[in-house]
Amino acid sequence: MVCQRVERAEIEHCVPALGTDRSQARVLPRHTRHSRCGSRSLRETTPQTKDKGDNVSTVVGLGYLIVNTTDVEAWREYACDVFGLQGVELGPDRLLLRMDDKSYRLDVRKSEVNGFQAVGWEVSSAADLEALAGTLEADGIAVTREGVEAAQDRQVSGLVRFSDPDGQVVELFYGLKKDKNRFVSPTGARFSTGTNGLGHVFQLVADEEAFRHLYLDLLGFRLSDYIDFAPGFTGTFTHCNPRHHSFAYAAAPPPARGINHIMFEVEELDSVGRAYDCVLGGKAVLTSSFGKHSNDEMLSFYSQTPSGFALEYGTAGVLIDDATWTPARYDVPSYWGHSRSGG
Ligand SMILES: [Fe+2]
Repeated sequence: MVCQRVERAEIEHCVPALGTDRSQARVLPRHTRHSRCGSRSLRETTPQTKDKGDNVSTVVGLGYLIVNTTDVEAWREYACDVFGLQGVELGPDRLLLRMDDKSYRLDVRKSEVNGFQAVGWEVSSAADLEALAGTLEADGIAVTREGVEAAQDRQVSGLVRFSDPDGQVVELFYGLKKDKNRFVSPTGARFSTGTNGLGHVFQLVADEEAFRHLYLDLLGFRLSDYIDFAPGFTGTFTHCNPRHHSFAYAAAPPPARGINHIMFEVEELDSVGRAYDCVLGGKAVLTSSFGKHSNDEMLSFYSQTPSGFALEYGTAGVLIDDATWTPARYDVPSYWGHSRSGG
């Protein structure tokens, strides 16, 4: 539960601009008590880390995202011309977007409404998929084991589906198809994907504890750290591979709930700069200026996608070594930049 209700204006100020008082940037001591609740320590709220080799099935990365849009062509221009994804058009109503050797990472579908259709998390094998589905079912979550047709639509070898506590469709899969053709970015961007997945998702949720339980206790994510965006408004950042976070969440009142933003990481600062110039030139709506995040040290900016949520585009994010990592707490989201006013 969030400690106290936060106002929508406060959320809009913090996410995705995440640009509160930057002059006060400092890292709070690790394992301090929760400064807002004053009731639970980090250690008490941190689930047991699952050691490698303990045969616990877990998610290994963010595999794909399925998004709905009223304007597929706008997505092609936005994703390909500005951010360097490679488009594979499947008729006027569907666009696959590639970032690497996989056949797609973003599946854009024509719809009457904008938004997210599904978030796809990758597991390592059929056995892991079944084991994780069983873990969810044992906790009372309804899991649908999809057949060949649905798996082919997603271009995966096996697929299960369930809804998160806020009703967002979540999919688990293994065996995402690779494309025989080499990935070629229209802008020359090289994306940081591979075993770290395609990037991250930040979701505003109704009940923090419900999401902590789902992602950390059941799906096997590990705590990375916390950011106190504002009094009563804390982000929890979690990882499932060395990428600093693949899933982050914070409690928020409606109508702000849902996936606030996604993140793509590129290997070169120049790729971020070139895309930033395109956005400043009017090819997309800037929602948060260039800046450096406190916890994952990502150098990034945010823009609005044609589906309404934001895209964070950045480079140089921190990688986590679970053998030595201890979660920290931050009182600002950014060391500098990330101003909502942009520019
Ligand atoms: Fe982010």
